[in-house]
Amino acid sequence: MRIIATPDYDQMSKKAAGILAAQVILKRSSVLGLATGSTPLGIYRCLIEWHRAGMLDFSQVHSVNLDEYCGLAPDHDQSYAYYMRENLFRHINIDPAHTHIPNGLAEDAEKEGRLYDALIRSLGGADIQLLGIGHTGHIGFNEPADDFPALTHRVALNPKTIEANSRFFASENEVPRYAVTMGIGSIMSAKKILLVASGKDKADILYRSFFGPITPQVPASVLQLHPDVTVVADEAALSVIREKEPEALN
Ligand code: GLP
Repeated sequence: MRIIATPDYDQMSKKAAGILAAQVILKRSSVLGLATGSTPLGIYRCLIEWHRAGMLDFSQVHSVNLDEYCGLAPDHDQSYAYYMRENLFRHINIDPAHTHIPNGLAEDAEKEGRLYDALIRSLGGADIQLLGIGHTGHIGFNEPADDFPALTHRVALNPKTIEANSRFFASENEVPRYAVTMGIGSIMSAKKILLVASGKDKADILYRSFFGPITPQVPASVLQLHPDVTVVADEAALSVIREKEPEALN
């Protein structure tokens, strides 16, 4: 694992976007695993800017998103389908038919999970998977649990996640209670992982994820077993690692 420390959110976004841009430049037909949440927004702004500047061509790129809320239609303004369209896809030249997000309206969530994993496999897996991290240590929507769920599945959201995500909804009651998420196995099958984090509220969970025991109670801790992980985080998010494991940063 390599950790790239940046002074602030803006630099975190630029560095992480640079890594994704390099992936697309080196392989035009890359499969990008994409994420939502507030952390990747700056990355997507950079990618849009560099696309407009003629630096990035997404015409051959495929994307697979991590997760989607259950019960929200793709045109609901809090669905992750809407988020991806508004914050990235409609501003770049990616073919909409190449963009994939789990179907939050699927009646049979198990079947939807199987289809989504088959789709990821048929694309050859993600070349790089972008991840944020939740306060519970969740990646995608894999919440603390007794085991690491391998495949794409339906999950009940942790109360802490519902509270954290309520900032995007009119009230906490409106936050969906379930989501469909790539499983830990689906995420781990990506060739490279790029995890981004910003802000002091992520400092403790970032330390526990990468320097604590590997346990499904901290889902992101499984990333310690992945052979190619890059963490790009700002100093605030790295403050606990800087205090307890300074030699991991330089
Ligand atoms: C959301 C998403 C995750 C994301 C996380 C952190 O619930 N499902 O993929 O990484 O929470 O979000 P943020 O970046 O807004 O802190």
